[in-house]
Amino acid sequence: MLAAYANSIDPQDPLGGLVIGERPDPVAPEGWTTVAVRAASLNHHDVFSLRGIGLGEEHLPMILGTDAAGVDEQGNEVIVYSVITEPGWLADPTHDPKRSLLSERHQGTFAERVTVPRPNLLPKPPELSFEEAACLPTAWLTAYRMLFTRARVTPGMTVLVQGATGGVATALTVLASAAGIRVWVTSRSESKRARALELGASASFEPGARLPERVDAVMETIGEATWGHSLRALKPGGTLVVSGATTGDAPPAELRRVFFLALSILGSSMGTRDELQRLARFCVDKGVRPVIDRTLPLAGARDGFQAMLDGDVCGKIVFTPDI
Ligand SMILES: NC(=O)c1ccc[n+]([C@@H]2O[C@H](COP(=O)([O-])OP(=O)(O)OC[C@H]3O[C@@H](n4cnc5c(N)ncnc54)[C@H](OP(=O)(O)O)[C@@H]3O)[C@@H](O)[C@H]2O)c1
Repeated sequence: MLAAYANSIDPQDPLGGLVIGERPDPVAPEGWTTVAVRAASLNHHDVFSLRGIGLGEEHLPMILGTDAAGVDEQGNEVIVYSVITEPGWLADPTHDPKRSLLSERHQGTFAERVTVPRPNLLPKPPELSFEEAACLPTAWLTAYRMLFTRARVTPGMTVLVQGATGGVATALTVLASAAGIRVWVTSRSESKRARALELGASASFEPGARLPERVDAVMETIGEATWGHSLRALKPGGTLVVSGATTGDAPPAELRRVFFLALSILGSSMGTRDELQRLARFCVDKGVRPVIDRTLPLAGARDGFQAMLDGDVCGKIVFTPDI
């Protein structure tokens, strides 16, 4: 079957190890099932995998992709939940220290077929297209949990989203504004700041800008480049939720600011299957849809990876195997 996979790892030249080519059909182990992929979406995770972050040489060749929507063996339209826990793990999957995402230890979703544990399938709401549903399991689920489970923001609060047009950043903006929260965003580009306003942000700012007032919560995925601004943007008692560190993970901690202003810094990673189900329902009920930058045939996946590396994306890039 056709797949986009990591054949080698190179931290400096991630696309050097990307191959679009034939891989053997997956065989479902006991308790797993096979999904015919109709759409899969690209995440920065896939670029990190090609750089060797979260993916070891011993697992190569590895089909990339953590998100998918497709059709199961019984003909049902499904969304694939990507967190794979150790057998017997019953608590929150994101708390399992031995968990992995599809494409880390098990073959991923950028293929015509993918195998997953049966409980990792959710019904796809008919109101969402395969392309829209394929955006939910990683970036959108992460944004949903950051806002509603971790920061517990409520209508009328103000949230700062660092970055305007990334997969997680657009999800944060759309979900929070649909929930009645005032959203402010930062971006390096004027056109991306304008796009964020179209997506529901109330205001947008240059990175590091002085804000009109301090905010209740900050959503951080960029890391080192924006960390100091994130801390300075918070009200006393405010909450910073971090789920990514694209630009590095060792900024000054600014401990005096953290303790004197009683700031809460919370980590967040993916979400639970129940949260994914609630997210899908929220999208249907509120008429909210994932922001899709472009849909490409799987055979042209390299162009999508290049666009993400170039930062030339607003929202999600989706691959479809059957075009
Ligand atoms: N923990 C989890 O479960 C989880 C889940 C999903 C994602 N993540 C992490 O979250 C991060 C974002 O993921 P994504 O899929 O949304 O990636 P993406 O689409 O590539 O995100 C791009 C975003 O990063 C911003 N950015 C700002 N400064 C940057 C810089 N110097 N270099 C590169 N980008 C910069 C961009 O802002 P501008 O508007 O300024 O361009 C843009 O909004 C990644 O680190 C990813 O690994 C973690």
